[in-house]
Amino acid sequence: MKPVKIGIIGLGTVGGGTVNVLKRNAEEIARRAGRQIVIARASAKDLSKQRICDTTGIELTTDPYDIINDPEIEIVCELIGGAGAVKDMVLAAIAKHKHVVTANKSLIALHGNEIFAEASKQGVIVAFEAAVAGGIPIIKAIREGLSGNHIEWLAGIINGTGNFILTEMRDKGRDFYDVLKEAQALGYAEADPTFDVEGIDAGHKLTILASIAFGIPLQFDKVYTEGITKITREDVEYAEELGFRIKHLGIARQTAKGIELRVHPTLIPERRLIANVDGVKNAVLVYGDAVGPTLYYGAGAGAEPTASAVVADIIDVVRALTSDPENRVPHLAFQADALHNVPVLPPEQFKTAYYLRLNAEDKPGVLADVTRILAQHHISIDSIIQLKPLDDCALVPVILLTQITLEQEMNAAIAEIEALSTVNGKINRIRLETLG
Ligand code: NDP
Ligand code: HSE
Repeated sequence: MKPVKIGIIGLGTVGGGTVNVLKRNAEEIARRAGRQIVIARASAKDLSKQRICDTTGIELTTDPYDIINDPEIEIVCELIGGAGAVKDMVLAAIAKHKHVVTANKSLIALHGNEIFAEASKQGVIVAFEAAVAGGIPIIKAIREGLSGNHIEWLAGIINGTGNFILTEMRDKGRDFYDVLKEAQALGYAEADPTFDVEGIDAGHKLTILASIAFGIPLQFDKVYTEGITKITREDVEYAEELGFRIKHLGIARQTAKGIELRVHPTLIPERRLIANVDGVKNAVLVYGDAVGPTLYYGAGAGAEPTASAVVADIIDVVRALTSDPENRVPHLAFQADALHNVPVLPPEQFKTAYYLRLNAEDKPGVLADVTRILAQHHISIDSIIQLKPLDDCALVPVILLTQITLEQEMNAAIAEIEALSTVNGKINRIRLETLG
């Protein structure tokens, strides 16, 4: 059979890794795909740059449209990133009846609804396995492997850079920005690293996961995001003393009232496997009504782990080239006309347990005031610990672990406790999930 010609737009970390994997494993890949896959053209901004891949035999260009407009190319791999000019490139490729493979989560989270609608009109596939959790085939697992289940919730460490930073800070006492710089040098971080540390990248990924898990449209604007920048060393240490780890999680949960979509630092019991996922590794825990909990683990970023997912998508597309477009696996797991607009809950409606840390004056009645306020807001306390006084000061740190409560009640209780004259400064609040 005639080889399939593909074009790769972007030859950085992921594009370079993709070229390497496609070239190194060409023979096995052809045996799997049923046809040889040839990288006919590739594009980068600066062709004089040194690459991590060998581009011998590939026609190079600085203009992505040379690839998009090439009638010989059947699959376009978009590996640039961003959601501006790249959206036009992807729509242009679709309009030219090209299949698209992308690793771009911001593009899918922000414009996926429109892109998939156009792709369906043109009868082409837009594949995006690499957009979530790097090399872990989590899209395929949920979309195909778990398609018989009603998925109740999922929770994941879905940003490699963030997990790498938290792990290095905890295990080696390293400085936040020093580790971030290393993550950038290793090619893990986004072009704008605030996306990694402020939870935006995880929010993009959660948007995609929730859509394929629950059959809802992509809606990034409704995701609550909180990053890792406010996690303190004290909280990490106190949490560990209490048998918890602090991980940055993306959580999507179906409730009777709607769907919770939230990204934030979370205390999780250290006995859970996911609490022990360190470094650039990601893990996603998915709870289906039939299967129960399932856990997916692997590298969340980096050249070849991500290329693994990109190449798998390319092979999938090649296998489907001759299939009936009407009868392919739907882009978002559910048939496009069967997506439901289930309400996404505002943060005040979230239900979760909490870790609270406050600094209180060391005198009788202070804790009684705090517990009275919590009780007035129907918040039950699981444990309360008063630590040694802080150096040279009359304040004592107090840690409270609560049971599951409505966030709205917690917000009100925190405001009242902070207003007590015996409580100093702001309360540090971290959500807690047992993931049982
Ligand atoms: P890089 O910055 O390493 O690579 C981007 C590439 O795009 C570069 O080769 C750059 O060219 C090229 N490029 C930029 N603008 C243009 C343009 N206008 N025309 C042609 N080429 C252009 O990014 P990554 O490889 O890290 O990320 C790519 C995508 O993959 C992003 O969407 C990212 O979110 C996603 N992703 C990244 C992962 C990772 O571990 N890095 C993991 C999973 C997903 P030049 O080299 O000449 O500057
Ligand atoms: N910047 C992302 C991360 C890349 O660190 O997880 C993988 O999507």
